[in-house]
Amino acid sequence: MVTLSSKLKVAVFISGRGSNLKALIKSSKLKKSKYQVSLVLSNKLNAKGLDFAKKNKIKNYFIEKKLSTFENKALRLIKINKIKIICLAGFMRILSSNFIKKAGIPILNIHPSLLPKLKGLNTHERAIKAKYKFSGCTVHHVNEKLDSGKIIIQKKIKILKSDNPKTLAKKILKLEHIAYAEALEKII
Ligand code: GRF
Repeated sequence: MVTLSSKLKVAVFISGRGSNLKALIKSSKLKKSKYQVSLVLSNKLNAKGLDFAKKNKIKNYFIEKKLSTFENKALRLIKINKIKIICLAGFMRILSSNFIKKAGIPILNIHPSLLPKLKGLNTHERAIKAKYKFSGCTVHHVNEKLDSGKIIIQKKIKILKSDNPKTLAKKILKLEHIAYAEALEKII
């Protein structure tokens, strides 16, 4: 059995709603789960996701917006809390290559498209405009280039004629909530 003390400590970085954080916390509570969310960092003061961390008594911090300040404080907290993996979940900053190097642990990200297609923002709108037949989500390792690290898991969905960016976003978000925990368990 996986005991709490043997579970790998994960930090989640957020900037907003935090539905992926919520899904990660929920999944971490399953007996078979090999990880626990031990730290949540936000670069936005009013990020809704911080409430999930508070409710679950997970250490959480808002760190001011300046990237270098965020990264320095994050590095310290990662060390102190013995974090072994960082998950970016709706974290709207691009981490510097210096941070990635200094952290020295895997950093994962979830992106709402089938990478390498549609890197960057507004993926659902662009998927529909480009008349793609499929879209989905990708969990990947983070490197110094945006949405470009090694892919861990992808989940695919058919784009229907009736879909608009909002309906597509909703369907893909559901897939994201399954994909992130799966990817995490896969690399542990
Ligand atoms: C998700 O769609 C994720 O793929 C993208 O930002 C969104 C964050 O949503 N990177 P949430 O904050 O996890 O609800």
